[in-house]
Amino acid sequence: MKAIGYQYNKDAVSFVQFEQQTPEPKDHDLLVKIEAVSVNPVDYKVRQGIQVAEGSPRILGWDAAGVVESIGEKASLFKPGDRVYYAGDITRSGSNASHQLVDEHIVGRMPRSIEFAAAAALPLTSITAWEALFDRLKIDPTVDKDKQILIIGGAGGVGSIAIQLAKRIAHLRVVATASREESREWCLSLGADTVINHHGKMTEQFQEQNLAKPDYILCLNSTDDHFKAMSELIAPQGMVCSIVETTQSHDLDELKSKSAGFVWEFMFTRSMYKTADRIKQHELLNSIADLIDSGELKTTLKEVFGQMSVENILKAHQQLETGSSIGKVVLTKLDTPEK
Ligand SMILES: NC(=O)c1ccc[n+]([C@@H]2O[C@H](COP(=O)([O-])OP(=O)(O)OC[C@H]3O[C@@H](n4cnc5c(N)ncnc54)[C@H](OP(=O)(O)O)[C@@H]3O)[C@@H](O)[C@H]2O)c1
Repeated sequence: MKAIGYQYNKDAVSFVQFEQQTPEPKDHDLLVKIEAVSVNPVDYKVRQGIQVAEGSPRILGWDAAGVVESIGEKASLFKPGDRVYYAGDITRSGSNASHQLVDEHIVGRMPRSIEFAAAAALPLTSITAWEALFDRLKIDPTVDKDKQILIIGGAGGVGSIAIQLAKRIAHLRVVATASREESREWCLSLGADTVINHHGKMTEQFQEQNLAKPDYILCLNSTDDHFKAMSELIAPQGMVCSIVETTQSHDLDELKSKSAGFVWEFMFTRSMYKTADRIKQHELLNSIADLIDSGELKTTLKEVFGQMSVENILKAHQQLETGSSIGKVVLTKLDTPEK
């Protein structure tokens, strides 16, 4: 198989294309022939964390759509030829390759109504947004319908699917944040009811626009910068969920008088710890596929950066590192002969 990996080089960001033996699937693994991948901030965060030369290049990338080529002896959810999409496991080799092994429990059937590139845009961010809304914030659409959520970082990869899920599936009133006209328009087009600017004082914007305090806050960017405002804004007995690590300490006591809660979402938890319920990622990806096929959700694909190559992966990392992406950036399959 072919792959593109990151090789530490103190002078430049250095990706290399190389060949290695195609692995055989065992147990519940699927061997997937990758057709398209999307690029996420985790890709450049893992790359930045590599500070010494490793034995072989590290294959990054954790968001893929492709076709099952062969299956392990215990796999039963998929068969060769099935189209699948998944975000993989950060403790294993990534998807910037022609082939990849992935545990079937965290793989979903690909939506039938969209192509590989549009499907590759979805899994990692959909798992994150779904788990944040329904597993961590425990939103129950039958009970919580019409409550209000503030989604900080609405136009990014995760925000683009979170707005849709919060609006169309959870039936919440959605206040999203964006700082530019283009990202603001994108949030509105996905279903946000109101958009405020995360670079301005959010508490003042809530007051100026007579917005009720949010019952839920989903923080998809700069938890450090937003923790104070979130503590002030959250409604009594509300819940805050963040997906972004902090570099400073924060005072949970600020939430105490309101009996408000704070919870983390990390979409690799289930695969990293092999939790007994990790099949929920298979189920939720299938639900997302159904919702895409019925037209209730739309893909968050914004731009295809061409085929997977050293140059295009570098270009995609540089785009993500600007912190101003809208929707998702996708790369199509490595140009590779049959294995
Ligand atoms: N825990 C998990 O499982 C998990 C999963 C996925 C992602 N993440 C993390 O979540 C973060 C977002 O991921 P993503 O894929 O959505 O990233 P992304 O697509 O790169 O996000 C870009 C968006 O961030 C917005 N933004 C920039 N600065 C902001 C700020 N200070 N406050 C609020 N929004 C701001 C921008 O909006 P404007 O251009 O309008 O300013 C832009 O649209 C990353 O740190 C990523 O590593 C965590």
